[in-house]
Amino acid sequence: MRHPILSVLLCLSVGVFAGCQGGGSMTSQGVESGVWGDLDGDRVQRFTLRNGRGMEVDLCDYGAMVTGVRVPDRDGRSVDVVLGFDSIEEYPEKSQYFGCTVGRVGNRIGGGSFELDGETYQLAANNGPNHLHGGDRGFDKHIWNATEILTSRGPGVRFTRTSPAGEEGYPGTLEAEATYVLTENDELVIEMSAVTDAATPCNIVHHTYWNLGGHGSGTILDETLFIDADRYTPVDATLIPTGEIAPVDATALDFRNGKSIGADFEAFPPNGDDPGGFDHNLCLNGEVGTLREVARLTDPTTGIVMTISTDQPGIQFYTGNFLNGMIGKAGAAYEKNGGLCLETQAFPDSIHHQGEPGWSDVVLNPGNRYEHVMVHRFSTD
Ligand code: GLA
Repeated sequence: MRHPILSVLLCLSVGVFAGCQGGGSMTSQGVESGVWGDLDGDRVQRFTLRNGRGMEVDLCDYGAMVTGVRVPDRDGRSVDVVLGFDSIEEYPEKSQYFGCTVGRVGNRIGGGSFELDGETYQLAANNGPNHLHGGDRGFDKHIWNATEILTSRGPGVRFTRTSPAGEEGYPGTLEAEATYVLTENDELVIEMSAVTDAATPCNIVHHTYWNLGGHGSGTILDETLFIDADRYTPVDATLIPTGEIAPVDATALDFRNGKSIGADFEAFPPNGDDPGGFDHNLCLNGEVGTLREVARLTDPTTGIVMTISTDQPGIQFYTGNFLNGMIGKAGAAYEKNGGLCLETQAFPDSIHHQGEPGWSDVVLNPGNRYEHVMVHRFSTD
């Protein structure tokens, strides 16, 4: 690591923990922060959240991102289950949205344009003919403002940024927020929100690549996944939804009984530029706007289990199909399928399906607040 964290230990004392002991031991609950490096002359900060149970989360203000999550495995050994890089300078070069907060609209917008209130908005077509993850310089490629916080649930960091009107072609000035809190129940809570001064589509998405066997432990194909979804959104060859909302019955996308990710993997073989594998939006069961448990991932070797709860309508299940062997933390090579993303979200390309049955409203208007909650809870089997 070229830029070790400066030990600026803040140790926010709450409940079970009564202050800084011995300069911040593994069991001290709090936030540690320091300068990580710089990008184009701008200082980048890193933060480490700790709970009193041996769980740690590394965050960074560039991209409001997660760069590490260390959790005890079934034998009590600490395992880093998040793909990332040792230095901040590697992120702009090598990262495929690793750990970041994606916006203003995560996932794809077909044809890279949309109409709103009679106006046509042209966005960057940065993914074939389509717009992906907010454009050429989305929320993931900016340094956010950061504030360390202490909540009743545990320590955290609140990241904020103003996305000016016209940024990446979107209308309205958007004030965005992404807050991370680590609880004593081994939960990483992510709350994303935004307000605007003019109507705009908004779909802020969290993009961590998980490997519960450890970030350098090979593929995720032997992990077991449950997703509470009866339906999914079929896509065309460029990954834009056709508009249909189809049952998962008798498809490889039926994760309702839990199954190994590799079990039906050959249902999506490589084809030309398409590397194959899962890269699909599933339509989550339950009421949109209500926090409910929607996914459960288990690694057979470490026994680490992660459940995800959200208030969102959909989840993009992506098996790291574009990972290309780039060298990550501690020299680990991240080969194809070396990590997976479970990105809760509004359905991709929703802006072209406003008002259609099953599709949610992704237009944020002045006076309203966009809200998105994700809770990642860790345990062992
Ligand atoms: C998302 C998309 C994928 C891919 C990754 C980033 O999950 O659905 O197709 O673009 O982001 O590489």
